[in-house]
Amino acid sequence: MAAGEIVAGILAPHPPHLVYAENPPQNEPSAECGWEVLRWGYERLRKKLDAMDYDVLVVHSPHWKTTVGHHFLGVPHFKSISVDPVFPNLFRYHYELDVDVGLAEAICAGAKSAGLVTQMMRNPDFRVDYGTIISCHLLNPAWDKPIVGISSSRAYYYYNNEVGDREMLALGEATRQAVEASGKKAVLIASNSLSHRHFTEEPEVPEDMRNEHIYHHGQYLWDMRMLKLMKEGKSQQLMDEMPDFIEQSVSECKEGCLSWLMGALQMPSYPAEVYAYGSVIGTGNAIVEWDPKSAEVSA
Ligand SMILES: [Fe+2]
Repeated sequence: MAAGEIVAGILAPHPPHLVYAENPPQNEPSAECGWEVLRWGYERLRKKLDAMDYDVLVVHSPHWKTTVGHHFLGVPHFKSISVDPVFPNLFRYHYELDVDVGLAEAICAGAKSAGLVTQMMRNPDFRVDYGTIISCHLLNPAWDKPIVGISSSRAYYYYNNEVGDREMLALGEATRQAVEASGKKAVLIASNSLSHRHFTEEPEVPEDMRNEHIYHHGQYLWDMRMLKLMKEGKSQQLMDEMPDFIEQSVSECKEGCLSWLMGALQMPSYPAEVYAYGSVIGTGNAIVEWDPKSAEVSA
């Protein structure tokens, strides 16, 4: 069996507004338009993924929060409705998806032998979190590839950002090893936003773009700094600064997704491609791709 590989690593944030604005048949509410820069960024990235040969999407989501350890979806098929608890007016999405349970079990076992606390989630009535669903929808709305779903442990909250990052780098390494042993081609998805300071009041018309803007210059500066490091391939520096970034920009990176991705990609030194950056209710969202093939070209 040929060795498996990670064919792309993607930072793919999950504001429900982006699905709402696209009016897919799965979502009940309907919108006029909105957040085009981000949506067109996803559109361009989808074209690249559609032309790519891959078997599975492995997604780490901030909104499946597990009190103890790292959990993995362990049921082959899920079908239900996902409602965003903060924006039920924007996101009531009917989903149906397949899970690559074998790969999930392999990552779960590998992470456990690396010293992490892990658990397979076997409840067939479990409602898959909206972070997983939104990021996967925005990258593959046809849902024609199985996913592996990984939860967000509370290490950053119980201990501190440094401990959280260490766990996520180890989980990333276990993910990479399991993908390689599987013989499969995997696309990895880190589902978090960057800076994450919200508006406190929603406009009457959510897609009225007059209201959508950066509203804290310091958060914007932090986002630009992190994106510059990604574009320059300076992942180690990005990880060195991650604890401060998390604290000072209230970043959703505190859920561990991006650190997991950096670990799985073995701290890439090749440049990432930024497809889009934009504000959603004031939070900073970047769509970014790391293409390991670009490392081979520049080597
Ligand atoms: Fe979120």
